Amino acid sequence: MAMEQGGQDALLLRLNDFLAQQMGLHFPAGRRIDLLRGLKAAAREFGMPDAEACMQWLLSTPLDRQRIETLACHLTVGETYFFRDPKTLDALQMHILPALIQSRRQHGQTLRIWSAGCSTGEEAYSLAILVQRMIPDFKQWRITILGTDINPRALAKAESGSYGEWSFRNAPDWLKNSYFRATDNGRYEIIASVREMVTFAYLNLTENTYPSLANNTHAVDIIFCRNVLMYFEPALATQVLHRHSLSLADGGWLVTSPTEASQAMPETLEIVNFPGAILYRKNASGRVRQPASPEQIVFSPAAVTQRTMPQPAAIVVNKAPPKPPGYQQALALYRQGHYHEAAAQAETLLGNRQDRLQVLHLLARIHANQGELSKARQWCRQAIDADRLDPVGHYLLAVVLLEQGLADDGKQELKRTLYLDPDFALAHFALGNLCRQQGSSKDARKHFDNALLSLAAQPTEELLPEAEGLTAGRLAEIIQTLRKQEESA
Ligand SMILES: C[S@@+](CC[C@H](N)C(=O)[O-])C[C@H]1O[C@@H](n2cnc3c(N)ncnc32)[C@H](O)[C@@H]1O
Repeated sequence: MAMEQGGQDALLLRLNDFLAQQMGLHFPAGRRIDLLRGLKAAAREFGMPDAEACMQWLLSTPLDRQRIETLACHLTVGETYFFRDPKTLDALQMHILPALIQSRRQHGQTLRIWSAGCSTGEEAYSLAILVQRMIPDFKQWRITILGTDINPRALAKAESGSYGEWSFRNAPDWLKNSYFRATDNGRYEIIASVREMVTFAYLNLTENTYPSLANNTHAVDIIFCRNVLMYFEPALATQVLHRHSLSLADGGWLVTSPTEASQAMPETLEIVNFPGAILYRKNASGRVRQPASPEQIVFSPAAVTQRTMPQPAAIVVNKAPPKPPGYQQALALYRQGHYHEAAAQAETLLGNRQDRLQVLHLLARIHANQGELSKARQWCRQAIDADRLDPVGHYLLAVVLLEQGLADDGKQELKRTLYLDPDFALAHFALGNLCRQQGSSKDARKHFDNALLSLAAQPTEELLPEAEGLTAGRLAEIIQTLRKQEESA
């Protein structure tokens, strides 16, 4: 019996490490009992006789998305409610948003917010409501509010927008009356104008899939990642924070909860103290600066734009031409989020006429990822001028045009891309998203099918060239999910 117990403990420890690696989740000794309870429930769902058999089975192969999703439903803590942390929301309402809105009112009328680890959506909707209250003409703006989570059941509830009393336990009085409709079953349904502002999507924060234009996690103004990393293995939490800093636009904000604020923060994020709240701001130069006070907040007028559906920016290059010397260095700087240095390095390479094209693509991406869309567009034009038959230049231009809200021009460029390379999966995908946004389900499905056909020709684990960690298999999964939604639309 003692042996059996010892065997199970050892298995549990191995599984704990395994889950930390694959999902970030870490169960310290005091929470091992929760791990076992969750595993028992997961075992039933997987059709396994008991938790032990389930652990053996899970440890035998790498986790695929389906297993991760099922485990997430049983092992994550989804506790959340509307207006959860009033002090942080005050900081947002009184300091951060007024300055951001004032700056953007003159430059593009755009705003991008990401609730990472959004659970059943209360945080993302709270932010949407706050934004609506602060921007009376919000319908004229291009506002992205993205909620992502690893737990598909939580996401489905978020999508439904229907909540019980418990979700309002900290909410101000006006919330229910102004933004919800009471339904016959004693629940409350969020009003359409708020519901429409928020997009929900699956995203495992431990995977290297962000920042990326493919899932709308680039050039974000404000990232909320609260009460998520406290359950993470510390080294993985640090990696997530680093990637968040890459996802932020210059001057963008990261909001964690107080316990998570003690995690090792990337050097590019500086602390800003507000009454009762500590927030992090990405400094434009990427250099560490002294803590700033709220009065010092000034926003650069970065033209960051909205898309309600994910759009890809990744480039598929079928036959990779030789790279100019120094290119890898610029690419590495870009991938580390040192955009200014990456751009400076890339510009020094432009003299190399033979390989100019790739450098121009890289420059376009560097600027697009920072939300500097006019500059990105200029580099795309230069790439197209350098080689009119190059599909990548047309594709990148399409992405930038779509970001700028120029749907017709963007569509033209996507068609040009596919004329030059009919297997350009990301161009099919972008067209599908565009049709979806425009309410044309049938066309969306057709484009998604074409994208899936192109992707089927590539090994699942193959990284789409230059696609910021997105594999052919991962993109196919994203597309399949969207396609299913279109079928039931
Ligand atoms: C306690 S809830 C936080 C909800 C909300 N942010 C708040 O503060 O009210 C934590 C959420 O993090 C999600 N989560 C845990 N691990 C994750 C991962 N690896 N990637 C994405 N989300 C994850 C869980 O599924 C859960 O919904």
